[in-house]
Amino acid sequence: VSSPLEALLPQIRAKFPRSERDAFGRRRAFFDNGAGALVLGQAAQAEHETRVNFSAEPDSIQEESVEGGRRIALGRAAVADLLRAPTPESIVSGESTTALLWDLSYALRAELSGRENVVITQYEHYANASPWIELQTRGYLKEVRVAPVDATGRLDPDRLAELIDRNTRVVSVSGASNVYGAVSPLEAIRARVREQESYFVVDAVHLVPHLGIDVGRLDLDFVVFSGYKLFSTYGSFLYGKPELLDHLTPYKVKPSPHRIPSKWEHGNRDPAMFAAINAVVDYLAWLGSAATPDGSTAGGAATDARRDRVAAGMRAIHAHEMSLCRQVLEGMSSRRRLRLFGPGEAQDVERRVPTFSFLVDGVKPQEVVGRLWQGASVFVRQENFYSRAVEELGLETIVRASLAHYNTAEEATAFISELQKLAE
Ligand SMILES: Cc1ncc(COP(=O)(O)O)c(C=O)c1O
Repeated sequence: VSSPLEALLPQIRAKFPRSERDAFGRRRAFFDNGAGALVLGQAAQAEHETRVNFSAEPDSIQEESVEGGRRIALGRAAVADLLRAPTPESIVSGESTTALLWDLSYALRAELSGRENVVITQYEHYANASPWIELQTRGYLKEVRVAPVDATGRLDPDRLAELIDRNTRVVSVSGASNVYGAVSPLEAIRARVREQESYFVVDAVHLVPHLGIDVGRLDLDFVVFSGYKLFSTYGSFLYGKPELLDHLTPYKVKPSPHRIPSKWEHGNRDPAMFAAINAVVDYLAWLGSAATPDGSTAGGAATDARRDRVAAGMRAIHAHEMSLCRQVLEGMSSRRRLRLFGPGEAQDVERRVPTFSFLVDGVKPQEVVGRLWQGASVFVRQENFYSRAVEELGLETIVRASLAHYNTAEEATAFISELQKLAE
């Protein structure tokens, strides 16, 4: 089955200045998107233009100050569209996902007496592990419980549910594992979390660029993701249910506004960062319209709403990425010296993103990275990815190829053939 983005790929790639060649002119396949994606040209332009023209602090009466504030508001509205959040005020910005989760864990301290527990999973990035472990170390929590992940990198919601009891205050899981590429069964987990009235937090860093997320449909309490993994600039976003953001007490300096989202934000905001994410959301909406030329972006009904066009864009991205997944999984299968960690069957493509962590028996991870780069100009990376998963596997590092929607079947072919040579 050919990908629905096939015909659009030349146009899509033209929008990413580094999709074909790196800054040194080398043609290469960029497969390190999970660490930091390629930048959308129009996002970088919006960032630059905003930084230069609207450096004046917002909230005064002069046009350049007013415009800076307007760009922040537009960026917030864009993130609300992306996540299908109820209001722009439910979107908090921060330095990174790591920083936002530290902030959230701090704000939740006041709700804890030392008897409670938090449930995470075996495949969390430490950004979503250390803050909870720290609460335990400092006596605010009794325990951090870790839900198991099976040998193929899958999280069983029933096994996770066994860890939830009436002392569970928070269940915090990755939307998709940045090592296994497995997508978490959020809907099933949601149902089990609701029974105990815990907060449900999703680290959506590795999910949003591939499938997006609908915070309303899943009834999520808090969701975080990072702009630099979504073709934008650094800076990250936390969605919180407005009543929860309102109710909780984050770190705050005295003169900053008490209203949300300002009370959660530390220092002045950067209009350029918001302009960049706004441009990315516009791009995803364009993708949705371009991929569904009959205009039926919302389950058959023609719509102008940007959030529906974004959702259509994400469906097109997922369909293309499923076809890349099929191709890579097929190329990796039945190679005895190749060990893939994560869902590896053809039928798994619905529930995974194109992230493939693997080892080649007898070849050091660093050598695999070198061979793919020297032999095929494929950019992959080896490290621990700050992930509990790598630790749980008893490994120090693992090789990861992490694809995005602008990657092509030809690039996947180059990757697979070099890998097959390596594993012969
Ligand atoms: C799943 C996941 N969560 C959290 C993070 C941390 O994001 P940030 O660098 O914005 O703190 C990453 C970064 O790799 C990630 O992949």
